[in-house]
Amino acid sequence: MGGKLRPTIAGPDECRTLSRAPHTARTFRRDRVYALSLLGAKPPGPAGTHVEHSGPGHESFPPERALRSHDKLEGMTERPRISARISAISESATLAVDAKAKAMKAEGRPVIGFGAGEPDFPTPDYIVEAAVEAARQPKNHRYSPAGGQPELKKAIAEKTLRDSGYEVDPAQILVTNGGKQAIYEAFAAIVDPGDEVIVVAPYWTTYPESIKLAGGTPVFVTTDESTGYLASVEQLEAARTDKTKVLVFVSPNNPTGAVYSREQVRAIGEWADRHGLWVLTDEIYEHLIYGDTEFSSLPVEVPQIADRTLVVNGVAKTYAMTGWRVGWIIGPKDVIKAASNLQSHATSNVANVSQAAAIAAVAGDLTAVAKMRESFDRRRRTIVQMLNEIDGVVCPEPQGAFYAYPSVKGVLGRTVRGRTPQTSTELAELILEEAEVAVVPGEAFGTPGYLRLSYALSDEDLTEGVSRIQKLLAEAK
Ligand SMILES: Cc1ncc(COP(=O)(O)O)c(C=O)c1O
Repeated sequence: MGGKLRPTIAGPDECRTLSRAPHTARTFRRDRVYALSLLGAKPPGPAGTHVEHSGPGHESFPPERALRSHDKLEGMTERPRISARISAISESATLAVDAKAKAMKAEGRPVIGFGAGEPDFPTPDYIVEAAVEAARQPKNHRYSPAGGQPELKKAIAEKTLRDSGYEVDPAQILVTNGGKQAIYEAFAAIVDPGDEVIVVAPYWTTYPESIKLAGGTPVFVTTDESTGYLASVEQLEAARTDKTKVLVFVSPNNPTGAVYSREQVRAIGEWADRHGLWVLTDEIYEHLIYGDTEFSSLPVEVPQIADRTLVVNGVAKTYAMTGWRVGWIIGPKDVIKAASNLQSHATSNVANVSQAAAIAAVAGDLTAVAKMRESFDRRRRTIVQMLNEIDGVVCPEPQGAFYAYPSVKGVLGRTVRGRTPQTSTELAELILEEAEVAVVPGEAFGTPGYLRLSYALSDEDLTEGVSRIQKLLAEAK
């Protein structure tokens, strides 16, 4: 009877521990660990370190051995509360700036925010209507296939052929909770501990974190304003080692707005192919391109690498749908299957109402985005001109997305209102506190000495916000 009652709720691990350690011995060992912590003994350090203590009955023992040979309860008192994997992730700096700006606004201060990476337009009506209609249908109140509704996958395949000339089968598509989940799952599916992933800096903050979460090592190739933030094949080659598995390729780019030409895309794709690398190419800003610049899709330019290419995309930026959370990965079927398996345990299907909205978005025409692009283009020219008027600021003209990424190195070390910012983080703080304008410092994107300003805000706010920065920095001595 007793045997029946004891370990039925415990997992296999606990069953083994329970049967190995009689209750009294377990209690004694747990008490000893507790006593050690009262004595100020440090939690276990790296393998091979010892907890130092003395006195009767206190023999020295290596904590890692103690953890191995003791039961789970003992281990829990000594182990860090947050896992090493998650502790290594930093808070999103862009969201932190946004939070501070919102807190100041809540205090009644007239803060103008250049921090958020989202269009200021509402989602087009016909997309909202499709969602309202979908919300009324009971079938959408239920679970649907974890990897995405077949109609949406078909619509994404058709849209991909229409927009970038890339022909894919719906079975090569996984519908995700936004581009962010697509990136996370893509790395989780192909990166092993020890694999290196080349990331061009300035980079969007999510890449290094999701690479690290997969156990990989991000390797940065740093670019600057002298090349318009474009990386060359030579720079990428210098970063390649035997451990390199993936190149992250983002064009148009966040935070710089840089766009690679067709020839550059081809050269980089061919280089990656020659070395057997995988490419994660993020095409989320494909429709936000200005002037004569053209968008080129890497697996279209270099079809021979398609079997090792993962395309990330989504509805957020093109259709002003950041809050709806629909993105996708396009890739070889085995990777898509693996990533779908992960998603089936993590989040299951993307909300059906959002998927219905996404079908209306991608199956519809591009009139709405053309209108938004016009506004962004006008604001882009204004912001670049106004930023370049500031002494010490150099802002190359972004060709895509909706960000300006000026160098502010010429302002650092100068004194403004009694403060002398030495870093772009300190300068961003000064600008927020003194001019009531929120911008994101380059530290967030792996390149100190720069600021990112999103120009997805109204023309009036944009002009007023940059004028305030101009006035403040005109005082720099
Ligand atoms: C380059 C890039 N990729 C992907 C995303 C993810 O967008 P979402 O998760 O909102 O679909 C963003 C959002 O800022 C981005 O800038």
